[in-house]
Amino acid sequence: MKIAIVGCGFVADYYLSTLPFHPQLELVGVTDKNTDRANKFSDYHSIPAYGSLEELLADPTVEIVLNLTNPRSHYDVSKACLEAGKHVYSEKPLAMTVPDAKELVAMAESRGLQISSAPCSLLGETAQTIWKALRENVVGKVRLVYAEMDDGLVHKMPYQKWLSESGTPWPYQDEFEVGCTLEHAGYYVNWLTAFFGPAETVTAFSSCLVPDKELDVELDPPGTPDFSVACIKFQSGVVARLTCSIVAPHDHELRIIGDEGILGIHDCWDYGDSVYIQRLMRIRRKVFMNPIKQKYPLVRESPKFKTKGAQRMDFSRGVAEMAAAIQEKRVSRMAADVSLHNNELAIAIQDALETGGCYRLTTSFVPMIPMDWAK
Ligand SMILES: NC(=O)c1ccc[n+]([C@@H]2O[C@H](COP(=O)([O-])OP(=O)(O)OC[C@H]3O[C@@H](n4cnc5c(N)ncnc54)[C@H](O)[C@@H]3O)[C@@H](O)[C@H]2O)c1
Repeated sequence: MKIAIVGCGFVADYYLSTLPFHPQLELVGVTDKNTDRANKFSDYHSIPAYGSLEELLADPTVEIVLNLTNPRSHYDVSKACLEAGKHVYSEKPLAMTVPDAKELVAMAESRGLQISSAPCSLLGETAQTIWKALRENVVGKVRLVYAEMDDGLVHKMPYQKWLSESGTPWPYQDEFEVGCTLEHAGYYVNWLTAFFGPAETVTAFSSCLVPDKELDVELDPPGTPDFSVACIKFQSGVVARLTCSIVAPHDHELRIIGDEGILGIHDCWDYGDSVYIQRLMRIRRKVFMNPIKQKYPLVRESPKFKTKGAQRMDFSRGVAEMAAAIQEKRVSRMAADVSLHNNELAIAIQDALETGGCYRLTTSFVPMIPMDWAK
């Protein structure tokens, strides 16, 4: 399956470093509105560069376009790709507004094309293992989930010096303007909707706690939330509390609380993170959580990652799933309706601000199926 990339920025290197896990994907070219960037990236990775997005879209051999542009370009770029008859794998979020996301999904559907949005970590070994443990009911009936996506005190970090493998700086201004909730809520929202089904409502609070991020440039818009907390009620009855911030100390823990114990992990950014169970103990008239955590074995070993650092994720796995779905003439596990529902949830949380109240979801999706190797 021939694929092409638009957007040769920070994240594009993560895709390049994980493409070798999927030899069925052939990257035929890249482009960026910043020609210098496209050329530098193309030289570094020895991949041809197209002169423009139009040139890329005119290449009839390209079947899937990876939209790795900045979030505020996602809608325009994905729309152009769909109009050109290409399947689209978009970085998150699918779009910045719910109407834009709905339009993209409707366009794809009417043209018989697939559109999916990252993150794809649900297809990872750790997430698939948790999902299997839930199907096996290992902690009894699940009532509550606590999920944390706190990324540390980013404004105190030397983020202006962070570089990708090929030397692209981390786009801090764009990250702060888009906001950590739209950027990161998806890492757990995608898992929770797969495990517990569509959400019914979300009651959230979001706020900007460090307005200037100690930068000397004006952020546009100013005051995008850098903290949010949301209570999501799923149609299945489960309730999840999700916290996102770039202010609180790093914490990516997930705890799924059932009647017989807790199923948990430490970090959703690690495809090989261990899954543990903490069982409820009854001794005489007292009930408490056993402090000893038992390991629940991963369904299979995760790949060995070349990249060091915080993220140990196979970014290209979602693209491989889309390619397989196209070849097998089925819907991708990361289907358009799932991506849309998850996008609506993340937008509702970010937009809650300090007065948001309860938001009722307007979208739903057909239940997903686990990976074949995890059934
Ligand atoms: N930075 C990370 O660590 C990270 C991790 C995971 C996912 N992501 C996601 O990846 C996406 C890209 O983030 P990034 O960090 O690589 O940003 P970036 O700013 O480093 O790169 C984005 C690139 O897209 C190009 N671009 C923007 N609009 C375009 C258009 N209309 N046509 C052609 N090129 C265009 C820009 O010139 C830029 O080179 C975002 O959706 C982000 O949420 C980022």
